[in-house]
Amino acid sequence: MSIIASNFKTNHTRKSTALFINEVNEYLKKENILSEVYVFPTATSLDFFETEANFIVGTQNAYATASGSFTGEIGTVQLDEFEIKTILIGHSERRHILGETQDLIAQKYEFYKNLGYKIIYCIGEPLEVKNQGIEKTLEYIYEQFVGIDTNYENLILAYEPVWAIGTGVTATNDDIKNVHNAIKEKINKPLLYGGSVKVENVREICQIPNVDGALIGTASWKVEDFIQIIENTK
Ligand code: G3P
Repeated sequence: MSIIASNFKTNHTRKSTALFINEVNEYLKKENILSEVYVFPTATSLDFFETEANFIVGTQNAYATASGSFTGEIGTVQLDEFEIKTILIGHSERRHILGETQDLIAQKYEFYKNLGYKIIYCIGEPLEVKNQGIEKTLEYIYEQFVGIDTNYENLILAYEPVWAIGTGVTATNDDIKNVHNAIKEKINKPLLYGGSVKVENVREICQIPNVDGALIGTASWKVEDFIQIIENTK
């Protein structure tokens, strides 16, 4: 049984999100799929959808607050309205594009952990670190666990090498195996791979030992492709 998650990033409208989620719902009902399926739409489309038990809508981001003066952010007052209890934290785009520091990420993690949220916590190295070899890569990744309680029971990890995200360049099976084996040795939690996962490669990736599923961007934005990805990991 794999965990398959779609990260919409900054894509889809409310209308297309509703159509997407309803179509995935219909598929899951019809096919009796055992995989755990997640969709992370934009904050404008977090309306509570009646989804199947193993199909969860989560938020890509939220501030470590219920409410307050944090311009542009949402907190649990807004998330509770949509009955959202799942959150992505530490995504590389929030680290490297939006400048989230490890301190801020750890603060968010602690806040949502204390509220019992399901957390998909993202880690991954940039190309310049990868090019220095596996030791440096692991050193970099372990620094992304500073301030993070990895014993938390509602934690899923996602290894997303930054150089594979949105580039079409998927990590090789050896790249994935080396990092996943090392992380799993230290932290025994579900561990997803993300970074140019596609319909064509998802089955092989999810069959690599210590890969418990995939966190997918680009290749999951068309619902027919996302359903095919789920189908390929049944
Ligand atoms: O969160 C998943 C995402 O970062 C992977 O993006 O487009 O390489 O599948 P993509």
